Amino acid sequence: MIAKWLITNICIVFMILIWSMAQGYGNPTILIGKLFSQVAFILFLVNLNMYFVFLFIRRTKVRAAKIKLAKISKRMMKVHIPLAISATTLVLFHAILMALVHDWNIKTASGALAVFGLAILLFSGWLRRKKATGKRRRFHYTMAFIFFGFILFHIFI
Ligand code: HEM
Ligand code: HEM
Repeated sequence: MIAKWLITNICIVFMILIWSMAQGYGNPTILIGKLFSQVAFILFLVNLNMYFVFLFIRRTKVRAAKIKLAKISKRMMKVHIPLAISATTLVLFHAILMALVHDWNIKTASGALAVFGLAILLFSGWLRRKKATGKRRRFHYTMAFIFFGFILFHIFI
């Protein structure tokens, strides 16, 4: 199950990178802007994976696997917020560069929608960290999936 999940992740990253490269780039500014967003995407994906790590911990019946996954989750949670901040910074650079070189179109509008989703996601993460309730946990992971929906729409439109 874990192998399948890792392969799915690798496939997603390759799909995004190949698609992005296939779109080409008009000038070096766009290329740099795209590279920023590709790195940010990978960091966001690592954070999204927390959902599956916690899910596997709950589902697995093998005690040794539970302990191993718990250790992995602890390590991943140490970098969860730094990754969120780094990815947000990269995406904001991407947004500024793209806004400078592109006119208002479906690509930029869907990007703005993704930034809006990201703001709510960061807020939900902050709430979740302040106080852990079932409702706040659901709000945070639901926003993480909605945000990914927005990103995929933005990338493939
Ligand atoms: C969370 C926010 C965002 C993420 C994760 C993100 C991610 C990406 C990725 C991975 C690509 C490469 C895919 C492709 O080339 O089609 C891309 C392209 C693009 N993004 Fe974003 N983006 C975000 C926000 C924005 C914002 C706010 C804008 C506009 C101001 C924007 C404008 C663009 C444009 C214009 C392209 C196409 C570049 C080109 O080929 O000319 N993005 N974005
Ligand atoms: C920006 C991208 C982010 C994404 C994609 C993301 C995604 C996730 C996901 C999917 C989970 C697992 C939810 C579960 O199954 O319970 C999680 C947990 C968590 N996140 Fe985030 N998150 C992000 C940012 C943040 C930020 C900025 C904070 C805090 C300021 C934060 C705080 C937390 C906390 C406290 C947990 C719970 C860990 C635990 O239960 O031990 N997240 N996040």
